[in-house]
Amino acid sequence: MLHVLNHPLITHKLTQMRKTETKTKDFRQNLDEIAGLMAYEICRDLPVRKVTIQTPICECVTEELSREIVLIPILRAGLGLVNGIADLIPTAKVGFIGLYRDEQTLQPHEYFAKFPSTMPQAVNMVLDPMLATGGSAVAAIDMIKKRGAKTIKLVCLVGAPEGVSAVEAAHPDVDIYLAALDDHLNEQGYIVPGLGDAGDRIFGTR
Ligand code: PRP
Ligand code: URA
Repeated sequence: MLHVLNHPLITHKLTQMRKTETKTKDFRQNLDEIAGLMAYEICRDLPVRKVTIQTPICECVTEELSREIVLIPILRAGLGLVNGIADLIPTAKVGFIGLYRDEQTLQPHEYFAKFPSTMPQAVNMVLDPMLATGGSAVAAIDMIKKRGAKTIKLVCLVGAPEGVSAVEAAHPDVDIYLAALDDHLNEQGYIVPGLGDAGDRIFGTR
């Protein structure tokens, strides 16, 4: 299912990121802040369990999170979403998927993978700011399903309809969260209007 997190603060910060003149420092800071705001919404349905605790006043029955959270950024650009979410979920474990998209074929290529062993029981959040053709997201989800991941959320900033359709077709069980659903992809596979190359803008390359 697709969830587009329409919120004035998220949209305002994303607008700053889209501007050509926004430089690395502000680009990263806005991404960090959006990640935190998105995490709040994405965690709305996290499973909880009842616990009995002792407050300074009395014993009471309350709730706490019942499942571990694993954050799985797709390198490089997905790294930009980790800190903002981990600030809200400091117990989250982090796995890594290294994928780059061939600029000619637009096909994803794997170059790194390292995951916590708890992925099969955890709520797994695959992180990548950009969902363009969807090739990288589909490949990343294939990889973690092969390692036993069952509950999976895909968290992106900007998505193209083509990418959303590709993920929905390949992985209909995965919830997709976007800050914005953009218009289309151009001939080079960039999201329009988009924000350009997310990895280059986060890390100041190019
Ligand atoms: C970008 C982006 C996604 C991918 C999206 O990464 O961060 O991972 O492209 O495109 P797709 O939906 O068509 O697969 P890129 O390959 O440029 O690598 P980078 O993060 O190292 O810059
Ligand atoms: N990757 C990006 O970084 N930006 C796009 O618009 C598409 C893929």
